[in-house]
Amino acid sequence: MTGTWTRKDLLGIRDLSRQEIQLLLETAKSFQEISLRPVKKVPALRGKTVANLFFEPSTRTRISFELAEKRLSADTINMVGSTSSMVKGESLKDTVRNIESLKVDIVVMRHSSSGAPHRLAPLLKASVINAGDGINEHPTQALLDMFTILEKKKKLEGLKVSFIGDILHSRVARSNLWGLTKMGARVTVCGPKTLLPPEIEKLGVHATTDLGEAVHGADVLNLLRIQLERQTESFFPSIREYATSYQIDREILKQAKPDVLIMHPGPVNRGVEITSQVVDGPYSVILDQVTHGLAVRMAVLYLLSGGSREEEA
Ligand code: CP
Repeated sequence: MTGTWTRKDLLGIRDLSRQEIQLLLETAKSFQEISLRPVKKVPALRGKTVANLFFEPSTRTRISFELAEKRLSADTINMVGSTSSMVKGESLKDTVRNIESLKVDIVVMRHSSSGAPHRLAPLLKASVINAGDGINEHPTQALLDMFTILEKKKKLEGLKVSFIGDILHSRVARSNLWGLTKMGARVTVCGPKTLLPPEIEKLGVHATTDLGEAVHGADVLNLLRIQLERQTESFFPSIREYATSYQIDREILKQAKPDVLIMHPGPVNRGVEITSQVVDGPYSVILDQVTHGLAVRMAVLYLLSGGSREEEA
């Protein structure tokens, strides 16, 4: 394994070193086989308690964390914002401190406000895992995306990885950009000018509004959905016009590498950013991403709880 894990929290990819990303990915690899065993459980987090606090909707991330915790034998409590006392006016800080008073070891939090987990982490003894904060970061998604590319391509260094769609509001894109550039990939971001953050090229990526340029010679296309809940429809004339200019279909894929990977963090808007034929087609690794998310989240939980994988082998 590459080095040791010393952080209390996982708040983003931005602060991580290449070695820390490497350690997370190698640890995830070592956890992958547990899900193939007849008894899919190890005692790594026995006696630990994990609170899953989801203040914003989630399917993949929430069930993936919950299953990862169960596979590691942790005790779990689950809370969704809409059924908590926050609807009666209790603050996020008080809510989380009340939960911590139950001697929780790890808090997994998704929140619609960018920076919410960063504000709470220094106030808590428990480790905090960011499961997506506003438009800021989604570190475990970037890790599972990098893991999926590694599984399929055996490397990240030098690959052309293009993100297409709503880059401006995408925490998935942001975490991936930090991670992939540190790991040596050549990253392109593509979308309407209004959905490309100004000065994004200062992060070491190439930005273009030309879909053909983003797809040409790409090893990986990671498609981002138009986030209608963030009022993104005001950033371009209509969904139909967006799809005309930026939808990935079988025809445009001919410009990519013959073994291109089609990725999408979900949820997918079929017929908008991607056609159904491509979602369900031979290049799609969208469901592999979900599978790999489990091993990645097991690794994150394990390292934050102070584990050493050798002890578990
Ligand atoms: N990729 C992702 O974060 O999906 P969910 O919103 O369903 O968790």
